[in-house]
Amino acid sequence: MTPAPYGLQGRAAVITGATRGIGRAVAQALASAGALVCVTARDADEVRRTAAELGGVGLAGDVADPGHPRRLTDLALREFGRLDILVNNAATNQPYGPLMEADPGDWRTAFVINVEAPLRLAQCAWRAWMSEHGGTVINVCTEGAAHVGPNVGAYGTSKAALLHLTQQLAGELGPRVRVNSVSPGLVRTEMARFVWEPTESEVSAALPLGRIGEPEDIARAVLWLASDAAEWVTGADLVVDGGTRVRAARTPTLQGRGTV
Ligand SMILES: NC(=O)c1ccc[n+]([C@@H]2O[C@H](COP(=O)([O-])OP(=O)(O)OC[C@H]3O[C@@H](n4cnc5c(N)ncnc54)[C@H](OP(=O)(O)O)[C@@H]3O)[C@@H](O)[C@H]2O)c1
Repeated sequence: MTPAPYGLQGRAAVITGATRGIGRAVAQALASAGALVCVTARDADEVRRTAAELGGVGLAGDVADPGHPRRLTDLALREFGRLDILVNNAATNQPYGPLMEADPGDWRTAFVINVEAPLRLAQCAWRAWMSEHGGTVINVCTEGAAHVGPNVGAYGTSKAALLHLTQQLAGELGPRVRVNSVSPGLVRTEMARFVWEPTESEVSAALPLGRIGEPEDIARAVLWLASDAAEWVTGADLVVDGGTRVRAARTPTLQGRGTV
């Protein structure tokens, strides 16, 4: 029988921030490709509901809790007997505002959630399974990590650190473990609602691909990186942004004229 494209039959995955938005779409995509999924987020009811819908397991908790990564990987190992895929997706965009007004404690929390937790989870997955059996780690960064912007100093700096961490781990953990990142542009989720809701038509019109992202756009990229189709890809950052980074080259007068 020909395996399904990007098939993950029999593999086990942990996905953080998996009850809504991008993480939920990733968990759904991996489960649809045959993976056993272990999901987490803070809201226990949502975790239960998501795990049940995807036929997987779940553990409620905050990735900032230093004990949570271990409990999560233990659960996956106990339930599935393996842990092949780790998707570090949960994040915070707080503290939002100028850095001179940022509370140092909130700044530190951003780094704990966005950088330290992905490292702790990678360590747990490595020690429990991946160092011996192999695996793949995918960190969800942001297209915005490549440049600066108003009010997103803590978020952008922590995501730039996560991007660097991705590349460092990719170098350290090969050949058994591949480590990559996906960097989304603006995606229709709760976290980014304050950006897309008031500006969607203008943002879409300025993008080469003409629309903002949907969580499934990001999930397809994560699925590809998790699959054997990407077996020679590590240390890469897959930017999935509808052309956000190249939008400056857009020439409005050419739109609608067909081939030029
Ligand atoms: N949306 C965008 O435009 C965009 C663009 C670039 C990058 N990203 C990145 O994409 C990822 C997903 O974002 P999203 O837009 O899908 O966000 P979202 O819709 O707000 O979903 C966030 C998910 O993470 C969980 N979560 C949040 N904080 C957590 C914590 N401390 N511990 C455990 N779980 C936590 C949430 O559930 P609970 O609240 O119940 O914990 C929820 O399941 C993030 O890494 C974000 O930086 C998003």
